[in-house]
Formats: sequence, structure tokens, C-alpha cells
Amino acid sequence: MSSNTAISRREWLENSMFAAAAASVGPSSFSWASESLASAPSETIKVAVIGVNGQGGSHLSSLIKRPGCEVVAICDVDTEIGQKKGVDRVSKETGKTPKFYQDIRKLLEDKDVDAVSIAVPNHWHALAAVWAMEAGKDVYVEKPVSHNVREGRILVDTARRTGKICQTGTQCRSQKGTIDAVKWVHDGKIGEVKLARGLCYKPRGSIGAKGNYQPPKTVDYDLWSGPSPVVPLTRPKLHYDWHWVWPTGNGDLGNQGIHQMDIARWGLNVSDVGKSVFGFGGRVGYSDAADTPNTEVCVHDYGEKTLVFEVRGLKTGDLKGAKVGVIFEGSEGYVVLTSYTSGSAFDKEGKKVRDFKGGGDHHGNWLKAVRSRKKEDLNADILEGHLSSALCHLGNISVRLGEQVEIGEIGGRLKNLPASAVTGEAFERVLKHLSDNNLGRETKLSMGRHLTIDSVNEVFVGAGSSEANPHLFREYRKGFEILRV
Ligand SMILES: NC(=O)c1ccc[n+]([C@@H]2O[C@H](COP(=O)([O-])OP(=O)(O)OC[C@H]3O[C@@H](n4cnc5c(N)ncnc54)[C@H](O)[C@@H]3O)[C@@H](O)[C@H]2O)c1
Repeated sequence: MSSNTAISRREWLENSMFAAAAASVGPSSFSWASESLASAPSETIKVAVIGVNGQGGSHLSSLIKRPGCEVVAICDVDTEIGQKKGVDRVSKETGKTPKFYQDIRKLLEDKDVDAVSIAVPNHWHALAAVWAMEAGKDVYVEKPVSHNVREGRILVDTARRTGKICQTGTQCRSQKGTIDAVKWVHDGKIGEVKLARGLCYKPRGSIGAKGNYQPPKTVDYDLWSGPSPVVPLTRPKLHYDWHWVWPTGNGDLGNQGIHQMDIARWGLNVSDVGKSVFGFGGRVGYSDAADTPNTEVCVHDYGEKTLVFEVRGLKTGDLKGAKVGVIFEGSEGYVVLTSYTSGSAFDKEGKKVRDFKGGGDHHGNWLKAVRSRKKEDLNADILEGHLSSALCHLGNISVRLGEQVEIGEIGGRLKNLPASAVTGEAFERVLKHLSDNNLGRETKLSMGRHLTIDSVNEVFVGAGSSEANPHLFREYRKGFEILRV
């Protein structure tokens, strides 16, 4: 876990420019030598849950009473949450009191812990997972697996180098309804599929006015900030609302949206980050302490195939019955997923031909792979998590680098970009949606940059790349650097 091999963003950028120029050399000039350090854990897999406020509670529900698994430790930088929602809960439900750690580094020194289940904020995901694997633990890490593209790739490389099992927290990958629907698409049952739409139509209100606020006294704020700069808190709520500011979150595209982005990419059968990306969006309808868009469309161009993602944070209806869902458009019909566990297939005339339904056990799948030591047993190996998380980051980068224009202007600008018919239609629906929320054509959104991607090296190339590439990585605060690979 030493940080003396840390790489600065500038160093990485210089190297990645070189890598982009010399693509034939291989996927990354930073690849670890492959070396498996995998060892089978003890019969009972001893797990620590890291971060137990919201989603960590779901991890506990899934792990606490599972045969062959014991929650032996809880880690949370908020001592009150760690005690009440972690230690007390496990004690009450199992009769055994787990150890408590506030500092993840101390937890990772604990030889009694075989594996960790991570549910901390996004800016900590990759670093916590890399440190854990370096310390010999298998990992379940929440989505998005990274806060930026480059650290996601470092995470994949670390899993491969250490031979550790690393599952992404996109649980739809283990849900029967979703698995069957994607198989239906892959089996050609709706013909040729060149378009997938991911939808995150999830209204959310203001997070409160920007101001000067104090983190809860029970939180070690320096540790909470981790790799991110320690800055005065300018939103009312520390926990959860970090999603809506760039230093720690990735907006709803990287919050709810990553689940649907992942299913859309999986169904399209594409295993890289695409040829180019562009998007448009902004935070409209109210002004608050957040900076991420509540209205966003991003388009991932895979040449023959297109993935269009729409985020709506204002009051909205559905599209083909889906609000938070995925739509695959085929030459012979379409498939709509309307939840994590259900959806339906339709023929060209819109007649339903079958339903998909059923859940699954994502933590169970992880533990099975921890026992077998085979990453192939995972339903959501970290590579899948990295690629889908990267798509969210790339869309956000385009929008963040954009130019503020009146929305009426955006339609014209889309005409010269890839998949113009599809994106033009998405744009018209955004216009109507904004108008339904009393926002006229004079409302300003960011018209994002159209950025070309070298998908082998996972860097931007060509026009706009010098502004965009720095967003693929971050400056890691001293002591919280991600290891060099
Ligand atoms: N898979 C899903 O369906 C799903 C659903 C909800 C949330 N999530 C993911 O789970 C993660 C947590 O979300 P949440 O809503 O519970 O957030 P939250 O902010 O409510 O809770 C995060 C907890 O982590 C703790 N924490 C922060 N940094 C820590 C560190 N370095 N070490 C130990 N503890 C730390 C905080 O004190 C807090 O208790 C997010 O990444 C989110 O995207 C996934």
C-alpha cells in the first residue's frame, strides 16, 4: 500500500500521449507484469463492509446471515454511522460483534479479513479497491467502479496482477430478468440491433442552497475527502449529496445511470469505450449547491452501433413504458427493460411477444468466485465495470467541456454529428420535456465537444483532446495516490 510508486496526472498525461502515438505497442505503457498471487480463503469467508450508511446497509443485508460467510469487521469514517448501522446491527442480528475501523488502511492490515465489500462515495472506489487487492483481499466494489477513466483501468490491471477477485456492484448482471432479456437480444430475436437507449428518468429536487456548512462531528473529514482536495463543505448534507459535485461524484449518469449504461453496452455486445462521444446538458429548473447536470444526453458512437443515454432529473413521463430502463431497437422488434428484474420483448408492430422477470444473488455470485478463484465465474468482473463506468465519465467530459448555448440552437449543431437522426429525435424529446417543465427555448445548456477516442489506449485524440485528456485522471492528494501500474 506504499504510495512511493504513485504517478502524477502530468506524468500520466505525458505517457498517455506517447501511448496514443504508439498504439501498436499495446493497450497501455503501464501494464503490470502478470503474476497471480491468488490464494484460497479460509472455509468461512471473512468479510469487512466498508461504508455502511446507505448501500452498505444492503451489503450487510446480503452478507450477514449467509452460510459460509461472516462479517468480521466494519469500516466507516463516520463513527456514529459505523457503530449504529454497522457494528450494532451485526451484533444484534448475529450475536457476534465485528471489529470497527475508522481508517481503511488499518482495516486492510487486519489479516483476519479475507474480502471487502465497498460502498463508499465514488471518489474513493478505485483507490479503496486497489489498496484492498494490494493488501491481499478480494473485492466487491460499488458502481461506478471509478471516478475517472484512468483509475478504472488501473483497477482492472491491479485485479489481474494480484489475481484477486473483483466484482462490480452492478447487480443487474445477476438478475434473471435482465440476463434473459440481454440473451434475447444477443440471440437475434429482435433482429439486428444497432441502437440501445439507456434511460435515467429520475426526478430529483434541489439539494439546498450553496453556503458554508460543517461536516458532522462524527466524521473524519480528511479521510472522507481521501484522494479529493479537502475543501470547505458548501452543501447542507455531506453524505449522499456528494454525487452532485464533480470532485466526488459523477452526476446521475454515474449514479443511477451506470446500471442502465452497463446493460445497454452489454446488450450491444461492445467491449471497449467506443470511437467518439458527445453530449449536451446542464442543471436547469432550479439553482442549488450542486454542479452536475440534471438534464443530459450523451451519445457513444461505435461506428455501426450507437448508445444514446438520457438523464432527466425534472418531472417526466416515460419512454415506451420505461423511466429507469433500457431499450434495444432491433430490425425485427424491440426489448424494453423497465426495472432491474423485469422487461418485455415486442415485435415490429409493438405487440408484446414475451416478458422477462426474475432476480438474483450478486453477492452470492461474488463469493462463489472468491471460492473458485476464477474471475470467469463473476457476472460483473471489474473489466465490465470499468468499461461501463468509463462511458459515463466520457459523456460527462464532453458536456463539461461544452459551450453554453440556448437549447433551440442545439438541434442544428447535432446535424453534423454521428447518428444525427437518432440524436435529433432525442433532442426533440428533451425540448418537449423542458417545455413541460416550463423551460423555454432560451434556456441554456452546454453543447458538448465531439471527442474522438483511441479506444485501445482509452485516451482522446485529435480536436479537443488536449483539453479533454486531463479529465481522464485526477490529482491525487498526498497520501491517497493510486498506485502506478
Ligand atoms: N448498486 C446499487 O444499486 C447502489 C445503490 C445505492 C448506492 N450505490 C453506491 O454505493 C455507494 C455508497 O452510496 P450511499 O448512498 O450509501 O452513500 P452515502 O454517502 O450515504 O454513504 C457512504 C458511507 O461511506 C462512508 N465513507 C466515506 N468514505 C469512507 C472511507 N474512505 N472509508 C470508510 N467509509 C467511508 C461514509 O461515512 C458513509 O457512511 C455509492 O458509490 C453508490 O453509487 C449502489
